[in-house]
Amino acid sequence: MGLIKIPKPWEIVDRDVTPESVYMNRRSVLKGMGVLGLYAITHTVGCSPNSGAGNRVSEDPLSPAEKAVYPAKRNPRFTLDRRLTAEAIAARFNNFYEFTDIKKDVEVHARALKTRPWTLEVSGHVQNPRTFDIDQLLKTMPLEERLYRLRCVEAWAMAVPWTGFPLKKLLEQVQPLSKATHVRFTSFYKPFTAQGQLAFWNPWPYAEGLTLKEAQNDLTFLATGIYGHPLPRQHGAPIRLAVPWKYGFKSIKSIVKIELLDYRPATFWNTVQGLEYDFLANVNPKIPHPRWSQAKEKMIGSGEIFPTQLFNGYGEWVNSLYA
Ligand code: MTE
Repeated sequence: MGLIKIPKPWEIVDRDVTPESVYMNRRSVLKGMGVLGLYAITHTVGCSPNSGAGNRVSEDPLSPAEKAVYPAKRNPRFTLDRRLTAEAIAARFNNFYEFTDIKKDVEVHARALKTRPWTLEVSGHVQNPRTFDIDQLLKTMPLEERLYRLRCVEAWAMAVPWTGFPLKKLLEQVQPLSKATHVRFTSFYKPFTAQGQLAFWNPWPYAEGLTLKEAQNDLTFLATGIYGHPLPRQHGAPIRLAVPWKYGFKSIKSIVKIELLDYRPATFWNTVQGLEYDFLANVNPKIPHPRWSQAKEKMIGSGEIFPTQLFNGYGEWVNSLYA
């Protein structure tokens, strides 16, 4: 065991690389391989030149259910104190350890993930356990757009428009029983698609958890889209969590199961390194990560530095949860 180096999740070589240089590196590598022309052809197929919000590279054509719901109406309650992150920047600076720990490469590796058909099981201590087909969910849930900030525990941040619906609307459909206290979210397990899952020493599949009260908070959002269209795979297609007052690792991607439990579940990073990643993981400038300060954050793309805010600035919604 002593020889196996457990990867430190946030000790990433490209931690401080600006996304622009990531982009330029990628271009020069591709150019060096002499495939720039081929790349341009294969990556524009199926993308309308006027897709608006930007760089929706190599995604599938929209399903009829998706066509009917995107773009969704923006909910004006959720405003930002800073500019939105450019779509092309957010889409090429991703944490998705199932595929790779190199942020700029997630987009390419994640293309292997099949996102249709896709079902979401909601079970455990509930009155009506159900398995939802993703397109059925899109048709039946009240989709809206919300501008949220996301603060990664690595001290970078972004601000993006998610499309989705409050988790509590889904929970209402299954009716949690009174003994349920926590919610566990589980991502897919496909080690032959997602090569990062061949790292057998990590506790795959990726799992996260919230208290039931946190899960029922108005802010807790299940996102199916970003920038006015369905989520690209690197952002967690076809459905992921967005809990903006917590560090980004709580916002689990590509969810297949949501379970209501009567105990606090084990979660991925907390199991890998519990001294560095606690279960609650609420954003707090006064509690440093053991290896770096959390007092400030750097916006990806623009490089602007902002002071970190308690609960990432969402105290108005969540203070009461921790009173
Ligand atoms: N979900 C899964 N399944 N696997 C992951 O590795 N990384 C988390 C979170 N959700 C992760 C995940 C981390 S550390 C962050 S910061 C956010 O996703 C990043 O989301 P983004 O790539 O859409 O910006």
